[in-house]
Amino acid sequence: MPTPSRSQRLPLLPVNMSALAKGWGFENGIYARMAGHDVTRFRVGLRRFVALTRPEYVEHIVFEHPDRYEKSIDFAVVDGAIGVGIFSDNGDSWKQHRKILNPMFTRKHLENVYDLMLEPVVKAVDALPQQPAEIEMNDIMVELTLDIVGNAIFNSDFKKFFPDDLGWWITGGLTEVMTFARFIMVAKPPGWLDKPFWALLHSSAPVPPPLSNLQKAMKKVLGGVDAVIADRIANPTDTPDVLNLMIKAMNDGTMTPERVRSEAAVGMLAGHETTATTMSYMWHLLSQNPWARDRMLEEVDTVLEGRAPTAGDLRNLPWTTACVDEAMRLYPPVWFSPRTALQDDVIGGHHIKAGTTVILPTYLIHRDPRWWPNPEVFDPSRFMPGAAANRSRGAYFPFSGGPRTCIGRNLAIMETTLMAALFSQTHTFETVPGQNMDPLALPSLRPSHGLRMIAYPRA
Ligand code: HEM
Repeated sequence: MPTPSRSQRLPLLPVNMSALAKGWGFENGIYARMAGHDVTRFRVGLRRFVALTRPEYVEHIVFEHPDRYEKSIDFAVVDGAIGVGIFSDNGDSWKQHRKILNPMFTRKHLENVYDLMLEPVVKAVDALPQQPAEIEMNDIMVELTLDIVGNAIFNSDFKKFFPDDLGWWITGGLTEVMTFARFIMVAKPPGWLDKPFWALLHSSAPVPPPLSNLQKAMKKVLGGVDAVIADRIANPTDTPDVLNLMIKAMNDGTMTPERVRSEAAVGMLAGHETTATTMSYMWHLLSQNPWARDRMLEEVDTVLEGRAPTAGDLRNLPWTTACVDEAMRLYPPVWFSPRTALQDDVIGGHHIKAGTTVILPTYLIHRDPRWWPNPEVFDPSRFMPGAAANRSRGAYFPFSGGPRTCIGRNLAIMETTLMAALFSQTHTFETVPGQNMDPLALPSLRPSHGLRMIAYPRA
């Protein structure tokens, strides 16, 4: 960690070379060089960047003046690949669609679909080995979180509409997205290229690798989403789920068919890798910290007495939830948020020019010793009720915040606590010695080498 400084400017040539070679270069590139500096300014290609690491600066942008910033050009690749959805949209269009979707993500509404979320978790727990045996925990988490998000949002067994190797294609697609992100970081391609380029990728015309991988991934995801929507239109239900809500909005003319498709794809993509990563790192961290795991087991056993948790039980599992929160502090699945300044601004005396791309490096802020004593230590008590009373909202923001806070936040908290409790009732998990847990910085963070664990049935 470099000596803290108010402000630094990174040299032009090395930064541009690093951007071309490694993009955000999670471990040893541009990103790592921001650590410990309040403000880091640099230029890449024609773009001007500023990275801010003080919690009060995060508060300024995310919570206090979100209207002065919008999602940056880096999100354009999402628009191109799956269409414009609330994840990447801006302005009135974002506001209008977020308003339509919000009611489906309230805690109250999610309690109505709780049983649909519980079902795949019970199934996954039942499939765990009954003797000590090695499992690929990250694969289990990726598969399970896709089932849960599908059930919770679409109220249907939506995976049957997708190929079995969907997870593999999503991973491949996201890797290619990072290649594009690197390209966009250095030089924004001219607007007139956008349409024909993405039209080509959405067609069946042969394209060379690595574009062909992205093309295939887009086809698998969007083909499945189209099939889910077509099935619901052909077999209408009166279930109060996101899909029905969107189909109703489409029939009213407040959402276009393209928008319904892209929101469905966004929900699926944004809603499962993130949760899977959180869970994988939590299992690993518990395995490294048996004292924290023992406390979780005791809480789960005492509160649930061996039965499956109801939605109401989840709020009575504060240590279990705190373990999830602490895992997201150390490994925030969304590890940075880029924004474009819409107007000139001043933050903590630092001038931000309109058009600058502002980076909020979540991973670095969550591990900064200035805001987190012993930042590398896994200590869920940081998140027990009352512990956060004096902490800035900008020191911990795994779901972002303000009006653009993650729409799936309640869903994510509910499902992670549910998974942690149910898996812990029957098993404990030990990371296989030598497992490399370095994170891979794709659009969301993930364990670069998966997570091999030994599952031990509890007595
Ligand atoms: C642990 C799990 C999750 C984490 C850590 C997480 C994190 C985030 C973050 C940080 C953002 C803001 C990104 C930015 O501003 O640049 C975001 C936005 C979003 N997330 Fe999540 N997310 C999670 C789960 C989910 C789930 C389950 C869904 C389900 C639908 C979801 C859907 C979305 C959507 C649609 C947005 C865009 C919201 C908007 O801009 O209006 N996320 N998420």
